[in-house]
Amino acid sequence: MPVITTIEDLRQIYQRRAPRMFYDYCESGSWTEQTFRQNTSDFAKIHLRQRVAVDMSNRTTETEMIGQKVAMPVALAPVGLTGMQHADGEILAAKAAEKFGVPFTLSTMSICSIEDVAAHTTKPFWFQLYVMKDEDFVRRILQRAKDAGCSALVLTLDLQLLGQRHKDLKNGLSAPPKLTIPTMINLATKVQWGLGMLGTKRRFFGNIVGHATGVGDPASLGAWTAEQFDLQLTWAKIEKLRDMWGGKLILKGINDAEDAIMAQKIGAEAIVVSNHGGRQLDGAHSSIRMLPSILDAVGDTTEVHLDSGIRSGQDVLKAVAMGAKSTFIGRSFVYGLGAMGEAGVTKALEIIHAELDKTMALCGERDVKALGRHNLIVPQGFEDPTAVI
Ligand SMILES: Cc1cc2nc3c(=O)[nH]c(=O)nc-3n(C[C@H](O)[C@H](O)[C@H](O)COP(=O)(O)O)c2cc1C
Repeated sequence: MPVITTIEDLRQIYQRRAPRMFYDYCESGSWTEQTFRQNTSDFAKIHLRQRVAVDMSNRTTETEMIGQKVAMPVALAPVGLTGMQHADGEILAAKAAEKFGVPFTLSTMSICSIEDVAAHTTKPFWFQLYVMKDEDFVRRILQRAKDAGCSALVLTLDLQLLGQRHKDLKNGLSAPPKLTIPTMINLATKVQWGLGMLGTKRRFFGNIVGHATGVGDPASLGAWTAEQFDLQLTWAKIEKLRDMWGGKLILKGINDAEDAIMAQKIGAEAIVVSNHGGRQLDGAHSSIRMLPSILDAVGDTTEVHLDSGIRSGQDVLKAVAMGAKSTFIGRSFVYGLGAMGEAGVTKALEIIHAELDKTMALCGERDVKALGRHNLIVPQGFEDPTAVI
């Protein structure tokens, strides 16, 4: 077993173990992938202030997200088809998150169902909703999430239609994979993955199949979103969904100050500054670049979280020091899951935690809540989305 020290190490193992179709699904952005790349390269533009001769004993990374205590300012983001990256993927990731003390968010487009994840965990998780045209389906899935004890609804706003990701079209992405000749040749090299899949019944969209009617091709994400996702989603509908849910609400996919103000008016507990990991509007700025203007717009009455591009504990520190209350990770935990199942997700969380903790110390901080702009060296113009840097 190689010595794993970084999220990149996990990505490389994941690439070897997962079928190409699912690796490509995870590791791509839309169109030219400019936003996908800038999500990570913009983090690298921010530097850290090195401080010395400061007491760095008794450090803590503990904080809160929407009033919930968390071991570090990180939650697992909703990721569709997680159960195709590794058999029973959502259950394994949820268990790892629970043991680590960070929130897990279950996607609408998960393989393991809400009820299944609830049956295998002991603490409430969060449920992410894509708004569908079928209001009855939406009402029922929200009720199922409530019945399962989900403690927050994460409403994703940046995917009313699917951004084009070339590789998914070329690979004929589906869950379970359709057995074409190229797919079968590739699957023949993924023995561990195949054995895992043979040993589980969870191979379809667990929240959808058997719960939604009139679905043309329930295996195809592309066909599904085209048929079912609500192109007419508006702030008025979001307000109705807020009332229908009646619990804590997180609005995800905000990447503009004007939208952040609208989200604040809705009365959300938190917003997630996000461009869906560069998978939707290619050409949009990275979320870390948009964060300052959004924070200026909403002040400190709404909790602001951030995702897209986090691959290390240093990235988490930079986001928090820039003013985000917390972060979400998508690919970073999927790499771990695809590499080594539950142990891999735990490994990803351990890596991020250790990097965050040590970096905090070397910046002269002992408490994650004390991080701020004073810890960073930010290039001139970074906060101004119109500046060229
Ligand atoms: C493979 C994959 C599937 C995703 N599926 C969903 C989803 O079902 N619902 C959702 O709200 N966001 C989804 N996202 C977006 C993530 O929640 C998150 O915003 C994104 O991964 C953050 O960027 P990062 O991967 O660079 O951390 C997905 C992201 C990836 C990589």
